[in-house]
Amino acid sequence: MRQPLIAGNWKMNGSRESVKVLLDGIKHSVHDVSTAQMAVCAPHIFLGDVQAQLENSKIAWGGQDISVHESGAYTGETAGSMLADYGCEFVIIGHSERRTYHAESDQLVAEKFAAARQSGLTPIFCIGETLQEREKHITEQVVARQIDAVINHCGVKMLGEGVVAYEPVWAIGTGVTATPDQAQEAHNFIRTKIAELDAKVADELRILYGGSMNAKNAADLLAQPDIDGGLIGGASLKSADFMTICQAAQ
Ligand code: PGA
Repeated sequence: MRQPLIAGNWKMNGSRESVKVLLDGIKHSVHDVSTAQMAVCAPHIFLGDVQAQLENSKIAWGGQDISVHESGAYTGETAGSMLADYGCEFVIIGHSERRTYHAESDQLVAEKFAAARQSGLTPIFCIGETLQEREKHITEQVVARQIDAVINHCGVKMLGEGVVAYEPVWAIGTGVTATPDQAQEAHNFIRTKIAELDAKVADELRILYGGSMNAKNAADLLAQPDIDGGLIGGASLKSADFMTICQAAQ
């Protein structure tokens, strides 16, 4: 049985004050969630506050990006050891916003996957096609290429130590969600592809859906057999919505 995971991706939002209010809200109703795992991925500058508020709770936390380097002259970057130092369990890697705005290649993302594992972090490895790619009917080719980069660099066993997040780029922050059938089809393709190399890894791997998942549509998406949770952007900034999604995951 794969334990469902609902992870919030706060992106570059919030303030110390709003983080406190949001986490107070989440902690208030955390007892309503029994089986799903919960996590929030915060802007790195808030991780100290997040750690102070969530320590000894059952909510995990993580970063939104990681450097491939261990330390040194890399202005503005965050090393995996630093995230681990702040108690992070997770780190998002390869988010489409980083692939697009920071020109992160499949190869770099694969190196980040390895860097995360080296620091004991669980990568939330994001993949997904653009609208143009979907319209050209190359969705499967695109996600296969993105996955192969990690498998070639890290091996399929290490891939299995992470979490995959299928996030169609056209659904991120747009309010347009993949239908449960569209999402299930992509998730099933991903699992089947990995099963060709290692059936056990494929069976145990958690594949999250991301892209305008919200309190209204979460239950239908999460009911699909190959959808094991969600990576939640906008809706993770409101505690009530986030907790509704967490409850839908069980
Ligand atoms: P969204 O973002 O839920 O706001 O669409 C999801 C993500 O980018 O991870």
